[in-house]
Amino acid sequence: MKTITVNLAPTLNERSYPIHVGSNLLSQPEFILPHLVQQRVAIISNTTVAPLYIEKLRSKLEGKGVASFPIILPDGEEYKNWQTLNLIFDALLANRCERNTAVLALGGGVIGDLAGFAAATYLRGVPFIQIPTTLLAQVDSSVGGKTGINHPLGKNMIGAFYQPRAVLADIETLDTLPDRELRAGIAEIIKYGLIRDLVFLEWIERNIQGMLARDAAILTEAVERSCANKADVVAADERESGVRALLNLGHTFGHAIENAMGYGVWLHGEAVAAGTMLAADLSHRMGMIERVDVKRIKDLYIQAELPVVPPNLGPETYLRLMGLDKKVEGGKLRLVLLKRIGDAVVRADVPPGMLIETLSLSESTAHA
Ligand SMILES: NC(=O)c1ccc[n+]([C@@H]2O[C@H](COP(=O)([O-])OP(=O)(O)OC[C@H]3O[C@@H](n4cnc5c(N)ncnc54)[C@H](O)[C@@H]3O)[C@@H](O)[C@H]2O)c1
Ligand SMILES: [Zn+2]
Repeated sequence: MKTITVNLAPTLNERSYPIHVGSNLLSQPEFILPHLVQQRVAIISNTTVAPLYIEKLRSKLEGKGVASFPIILPDGEEYKNWQTLNLIFDALLANRCERNTAVLALGGGVIGDLAGFAAATYLRGVPFIQIPTTLLAQVDSSVGGKTGINHPLGKNMIGAFYQPRAVLADIETLDTLPDRELRAGIAEIIKYGLIRDLVFLEWIERNIQGMLARDAAILTEAVERSCANKADVVAADERESGVRALLNLGHTFGHAIENAMGYGVWLHGEAVAAGTMLAADLSHRMGMIERVDVKRIKDLYIQAELPVVPPNLGPETYLRLMGLDKKVEGGKLRLVLLKRIGDAVVRADVPPGMLIETLSLSESTAHA
């Protein structure tokens, strides 16, 4: 088992927290106990994950004298909304949860984002622990403290920054994850390599087949190195006033794809892969990465069996949906682009004509 620490601003040092990555952590309540004030917790999960893992977690906690009650939500991105959030508040209130009652999120990014936002706002904040069970949640959404829900007019539009007390990434839970979800998580792993860690990217290129085959040692290393990257970025810029924006590589395009196709039709990671191909194409048009770099990125996604051709929505639809994205500041679109592989930059000076070329010729990325 490896532990990575998320170091938050020195004056706020008490908010730093550990990310434990390893096998069979669900059976090791000793990683949870130090973070509990009260010997009672709420476990938020969904109808898919709870039957697989909640009893194991509950019985191990019980064995250490910690009572728990489950809050089981419907499964799906379409439920990441205020109605579901309200179900959580109903259950927390009905069970008389107090300021010291910790909320545990057991599930993927949807559960983590919902449970985290509930924990941030219930009684103005209760202790929160992330137990991510998808690859995407283990490498990305469970770390860094972004929580929230979707609005019909935009994804993740309502939320709060709220850091967990700890993150437990149990690699064994990935055994039951559908292949398509595993691949979507790999898209976020590749993202860290592309934006800031060339050595990791090369490691991913060598180990992509091992990841797809769910080799536990390879997945553990992939999760660790991804979390280390995310922890670095979050420590440098918790509130996304600078470098944290680089984590959005491919996301402005990707969110437009998710939104246009209907939440849940394209998985988040799939939309990020296709969106990153657009970002790569635009980076090349703007004189940054070379055509061979665009091909290198595309080849890696193809190996990971991720989509590389964005849906042909037409530039107008893309621009309209990208205009709703949070990365628009003062009417100017800010996009994460690649200076080189392993080195990303935020640019607010993208010539509209070039962006439209990328969006209208998106199929050309397929032939790069
Ligand atoms: N907060 C952040 O910083 C951040 C970052 C990236 C993504 N996100 C959010 O995360 C969400 C996507 O997360 P996700 O990809 O984990 O999707 P998800 O939570 O919908 O999980 C994907 C599917 O896998 C199922 N599942 C989860 N764990 C399983 C397991 N171990 N075995 C079998 N099935 C399992 C889920 O029930 C669901 O059906 C999006 O809402 C996105 O906006 C948040
Ligand atoms: Zn993402």
